Amino acid sequence: MSSKDVVVYSVENRIAWVKFNRPDKRNAQSPTLNRRMLEVLEELEFRDDVGVLVLTGEGTSWCAGMDLQEYFRDTAAKGLGGTRKAQAEAYAWWRKLRWYQKPTIAMVNGWCFGGAYGPLNACDLAIAADEATFGLSEINWGILPGGGATKVATNAMAWRDAMYHTITGEPISGSKAAQWKLVNESVPLAKLKDRVIELAGVLLKKNPVTIKAAKDAVRRVTEMTYENAEDYLIRAQEAADSFDAEGRKEGLKQFLDDKAYKPGLGTYDISKQKKK
Ligand code: COA
Repeated sequence: MSSKDVVVYSVENRIAWVKFNRPDKRNAQSPTLNRRMLEVLEELEFRDDVGVLVLTGEGTSWCAGMDLQEYFRDTAAKGLGGTRKAQAEAYAWWRKLRWYQKPTIAMVNGWCFGGAYGPLNACDLAIAADEATFGLSEINWGILPGGGATKVATNAMAWRDAMYHTITGEPISGSKAAQWKLVNESVPLAKLKDRVIELAGVLLKKNPVTIKAAKDAVRRVTEMTYENAEDYLIRAQEAADSFDAEGRKEGLKQFLDDKAYKPGLGTYDISKQKKK
């Protein structure tokens, strides 16, 4: 396998399917995978034929976290510089994904442990198989859940559940992960891809400038006071208008003048919008 093959992707019907592709190592994140994933995300980010990115895993695993051999042991053997370099490479693609231009969906098809919570949280939405298995397994092998994983747990879950999840290291099913709000929902594995395609279809109908502004806003305002959020949201909408002044006018026109749709129940037809 070439170093490029650790991540594979295809683009179909405006969905970029990006796969962790180390099934024999349960898609653990090695430094090679982390470097390649950043390249792939950069290759896809501004392609006009990509409207949504789905991150999934080949085989029985979504991602078994960081590679205990290549990410931890081998880099530690190179000293602090080795560790810091490996961390920077992993965090770089998670950050790229958190602020990605296109909306993103984690399609969690199997194992999801520890360091996998970085990309899980980086995806805007997450749909899991009922049969998937999640866990902050770090405590089981002697470290705390780093790489943001503890923060992901406390952001997503109720405090009690986050504490339980973090210090017991007990694995939970995809259904339980949905109940604990680590993912949006879970469905039987056999229906997972169809559900994700359906959800991607909803996102593909939205104005792309608006959806980027809105998803960034959710991440930003989470850590703001109400006053700061109110101000940020005014500025963010004005910035979005500077990229796409026609969107909201068209949305209003199709409702108020054409009576073609109801915003409470669906999206305006972006194909009718004047191009900039
Ligand atoms: N790092 C490095 N190698 C890993 C790995 C990881 N995180 N997860 C799995 N692998 C490797 C195994 O060492 C094994 O390699 P080998 O075939 O060369 O011996 C191979 O992947 C298959 O793993 P195996 O344990 O046999 O598969 P499984 O399907 O029975 O179990 C897991 C899958 C994910 C439950 C199990 O591999 C596991 O617990 N992995 C560690 C998960 C973890 O703690 N991740 C957090 C890291 S931050």
